[in-house]
This record gives sequence, structure tokens and C-alpha cells, in this order.
Amino acid sequence: MLNAFYFSPTFSTKKIVTLIAKGLDPNFSEKDITLGIDSEFILNDTDTAIIGIPVHNGRVPALVVESLKKIKGNKTNLITVAVYGSRDYDDTLLELNDICQGQGFNIIASATFVAQHSLNDTIATGRPNKEDLLKLEEFTLKIKDKLKTPEQDSSVKVKGKFPYRKKPGLPIYPIVNEKCNNCGLCAKECPVGAIDFEDPKIINRKICLSCMRCFNICPQGAREHNTKPIAMFLLNTLNKFVFKGYKEPELFI
Ligand SMILES: Cc1cc2nc3c(=O)[nH]c(=O)nc-3n(C[C@H](O)[C@H](O)[C@H](O)COP(=O)(O)O)c2cc1C
Repeated sequence: MLNAFYFSPTFSTKKIVTLIAKGLDPNFSEKDITLGIDSEFILNDTDTAIIGIPVHNGRVPALVVESLKKIKGNKTNLITVAVYGSRDYDDTLLELNDICQGQGFNIIASATFVAQHSLNDTIATGRPNKEDLLKLEEFTLKIKDKLKTPEQDSSVKVKGKFPYRKKPGLPIYPIVNEKCNNCGLCAKECPVGAIDFEDPKIINRKICLSCMRCFNICPQGAREHNTKPIAMFLLNTLNKFVFKGYKEPELFI
């Protein structure tokens, strides 16, 4: 059985993980862990799993680390995927693989893909694009081959350094404008419960992940960044000139 797990506040990781899963087995079991995991998943050595996460500040989002502790493998073949907004994925894939190895998985393939930046839609706009999807197909075919002919040591080496990158604080969080009609969807869909159910204008900034899910799902378009336009301009300029623009997907298999 193929199990596809993803944490995906603004749905791009979901898109990439489910496309890979469909290519491997159209009957895969989809497991959205964005809002956490209630009970443990225990997989065995005849299962295969995919785990996909977005890069937050060059690392695995802290909430995902907690959820991953509830997904247990028993020499289960695993494919890991990190999706990022074209700045860099830094140590995310290495950290994800280290955690999953500790959970009993045998990582047979890993990849990074680029998707539109959830904090600034002028960065990596339109990604994943046609070329990305071709790479995704290539990745899926390579995994199929690898699963047909298991080797003695099939584990993969990915980029990244230990100790992992220190997470910088991000002074970005969503605020509410006058279009809010208190429907409560954002409070229901917040991965960390940072939004007040009674009054969605109240956000607990101490626990907000700045993941932009509320921003993305609001039917009224009532969420805005608190960030000043100058900060967004700087992020965009840094991406273009310092982080050197276009990044290809990377496959480790
Ligand atoms: C809080 C936060 C931090 C981020 N940090 C990075 C980063 O370090 N590098 C990068 O390239 N993209 C970064 N991104 C962009 C996301 O990785 C990217 O938009 C991803 O596609 C989001 O996945 P999702 O749509 O599944 O939520 C960050 C996004 C957020 C919300």
C-alpha cells in the first residue's frame, strides 16, 4: 500500500506529493497532516510511503517534527520531498531524512521542487511549471524502477549540513481587513489554532507559523500581510539578485 503524507498549508506541497503518488499507484492512500495527527500511523516493510513538506526558514517546520514522531516505519521504503519558494532549501531535506530514518524508514528517493512563494506571489510565480512536471515524471519513473529492483543499500544522500541552520524569526503574520464576515473558516483551518473562533481578528502571534493558510483559504480575501511593502520588495530583490533566481528541481535517487 502506498501512503502519501503531506503538510501543506497553502497546497503546493499537496499538489506535488499527490502527483508523484498518482504516478506510482493511482490507488494510493492520501494523508493530509497539515492540521496534525490524532493517532499513530504504523507502517510495515511491504508498505511504501511518501512524505512531503514545505521549507520554512530553511528547516522542517516545527509542527511537522511533532507529527513525524507519530508516523512509524518498519524498514518501510520512503520517498521524501521538500518544496520551497526558490530561495533555498538549506538543511530541510537532510533534517527530514534524519528524522524519518530515526522513525524506521528506508529512504529510497528524495527530491526538492520549487513552488510559488507563499509569502510573496511574485517569487517563483507559476511554479511548478511544465519543466518541473517533466522532472516530476522522471522522478516517478526512476522510483518505479528502483522499487522493482531493490538493492542491498538503497538509501540516498542529500544536500544539507549538520548542525542545521538556525531559524531566523520572521516578523510576518496575517492581519484581517474589513471584508472579514466572521465565517470562522480560518480558525478551523489554522494548523496551530492561532486564530480565535469567536473573533478571527484576534491572532495569537506567539504560536502563529506565518504559514499563510488563512490568507490562502479566506473566501472573502480578508487576510493581508502585516509586512510593510518595503520588506516584501527586499525579499523579492534578494531572491532575484542574491539568491540567483531560477532553481531546478533536484532529484536524489
Ligand atoms: C514561514 C515561511 C518560511 C519560508 N521559508 C522559505 C525558505 O527558507 N526558503 C524558500 O525557498 N522558501 C521558503 N518559503 C516558501 C515555501 O517553502 C513555499 O512557498 C512552499 O511552496 C509552501 O508550501 P505549501 O504551499 O505546501 O504551504 C517559506 C514560506 C513560509 C510561509
